Amino acid sequence: MQRSGRTIGCGEVRQELLNKRIKLAGWVNRRRDHGGLIFIDMRDRSGIMQLVFNPDFNKAVHELAHQLRSEDVIEVEGTVVNRSPETVNRELATGAFELQVDKLVILNKAKNLPFTLEEAENVDEELRLKYRYIDLRRDAMQHKFALRNKVTFAMREFLIKRGFYEMETPILTKNTPEGAREFLVPCRTHTGTFYALPQSPQLYKQILMASGFESYFQIARCFRDEDLRADRQPEFTQLDLEMSFINEQDIQDIIEGLIAHVWRTAFNVELQLPFERMPYDVAFGTYGSDKPDVRFDLPIHDISSVFADTELKFLRTTLDKGGKVGALAVHDHEFSRSELDAMVGRAQKLGAKGLLWLRFKDGKPDSPVANFLSPNFLDELKKSIPQASASTTLFIVAGPYDEAWTILGRLRLLLAGDLNLIDPNVHRFLWVTDFPLFEYDKESKAYAAVHHPFTSPQEGWEKLDPKDMKARAYDIVLNGIELGGGSIRIHDAAMQDKVFDLLGLDKATAQKKFGFLLEALQLGFPPHGGLAIGIDRLIMLMTKSASIRDVIAFPKTARGYDPMMAAPTTVDEAQLREYGLKFAPIKKEA
Ligand code: AMO
Repeated sequence: MQRSGRTIGCGEVRQELLNKRIKLAGWVNRRRDHGGLIFIDMRDRSGIMQLVFNPDFNKAVHELAHQLRSEDVIEVEGTVVNRSPETVNRELATGAFELQVDKLVILNKAKNLPFTLEEAENVDEELRLKYRYIDLRRDAMQHKFALRNKVTFAMREFLIKRGFYEMETPILTKNTPEGAREFLVPCRTHTGTFYALPQSPQLYKQILMASGFESYFQIARCFRDEDLRADRQPEFTQLDLEMSFINEQDIQDIIEGLIAHVWRTAFNVELQLPFERMPYDVAFGTYGSDKPDVRFDLPIHDISSVFADTELKFLRTTLDKGGKVGALAVHDHEFSRSELDAMVGRAQKLGAKGLLWLRFKDGKPDSPVANFLSPNFLDELKKSIPQASASTTLFIVAGPYDEAWTILGRLRLLLAGDLNLIDPNVHRFLWVTDFPLFEYDKESKAYAAVHHPFTSPQEGWEKLDPKDMKARAYDIVLNGIELGGGSIRIHDAAMQDKVFDLLGLDKATAQKKFGFLLEALQLGFPPHGGLAIGIDRLIMLMTKSASIRDVIAFPKTARGYDPMMAAPTTVDEAQLREYGLKFAPIKKEA
């Protein structure tokens, strides 16, 4: 874009500007003094251009250039000339040229920085976030946000062309329960009441379907007060969409087309469609996860039958209680004894109560429990794991199915790292389908929705026990990370009533919380469904970043703190009074 302050971007100087006068504006990236000449690498968003200040050419400007330090903001004018052949830098797009400067204005003088751009990668993250604007100047960071911009543009382009309306929904709202704790905002005009920040636009987008918009999307801010991790932030961004008169396949087709368009735009790569599909039961049974990383195999084997007659006490108790014995089998890799022993501690860190390892020596089992195993153990094992051989090592976890398989799922990822089983350049998308409708929460002794309470059950649900009911829900997974989730929704008031009832919401509470929905469901509500993709997670994976904090311009620390603004803050008494609030310190439990 043409700007009056400059002719062109630093990184855009090419042959056609040779011997022409140009004006540039940007930052001092680096200064070198060399035989009376001063060289500056000047940087703006487009890249780097070398400036040269020659006292023979303009003494006053050369003198001023002596004052330049890294990160000063300057404006220069001069003539584009060829660099001498031996100084051409082939790694820079502008590396054949330099600007012979005869006019220099220092627009902003930079003091010593808290860290240099080169150091940023290695400084404490809180310091990096405090001076986020310096951190963001780095080429690697600029690249991430350039890609993010390309991706959101491609999303809008794809969806608007297909008849989707981009629509906004409120940020000050009533909570739509989706599992996390919500952020509350006190309301001054109705003392004693609170807005909630939306965990997602879920109910609004459903209501937009009742409003007749048919295809909606939004690049939506969502807020969840939950424990933070590398792929979780308290505020994050979703590509949220909803359609009416559709089924699961229609939503999945749109999402696959959209992701393929994003990959084409960002990487010039054609993704193979359709993506692989896997029912939840298969995903969990094979990989111990509802978001399996399928870039490598290493399935979980159920070897309960091998131990059917075992006298080993902990296995016997587990099996008698209806539990299972699962194993990961690594073939043709020799682990040292210390590696095997260390694995027990590592599994405990993943939440395992214990881990049993087992390998073979001269065809006979070698394991801390070898005395309890028959010499023919390998033959028995082959009935459950046909590929097993004398060079197989087993990592065994026993317990209730859900617990044991979850641990094995985590151990599977740990082993994949150890054994280098993952090709970091592969992108494997996967649809996980047919989720359970509910999960039982032992603490509250109640069912909770696996997706959310507005998700439609699969046909035949009324005849089943709640634990066996399946949802018309689907997740999209990329390389073992849940990228997005969605479902076909309930559009029938009686069905919604019944689901609320199974969730333990009594009629009065359901009416208080969702009366507007239950009423709308009786005033002309079309069948509908949708999905939301976590944009931060998508960009994290596309840029191979370690955390979503790297692809959010102003993220919070892992403790939910914004070091630049120093938020959150206390507010003064007078302000609290306006809201009718009084601060009462929370008493720590003894
Ligand atoms: P869900 O809760 O599965 O579905 O969220 C969809 C996607 O949003 C991303 N995500 C997050 N990203 C960063 N930080 C977080 N704290 C965080 N929480 C979620 C994930 C996730 O897959 N309303 C439904 C969607 C629907 O049914 O249409 C919803 O929000 O990538």
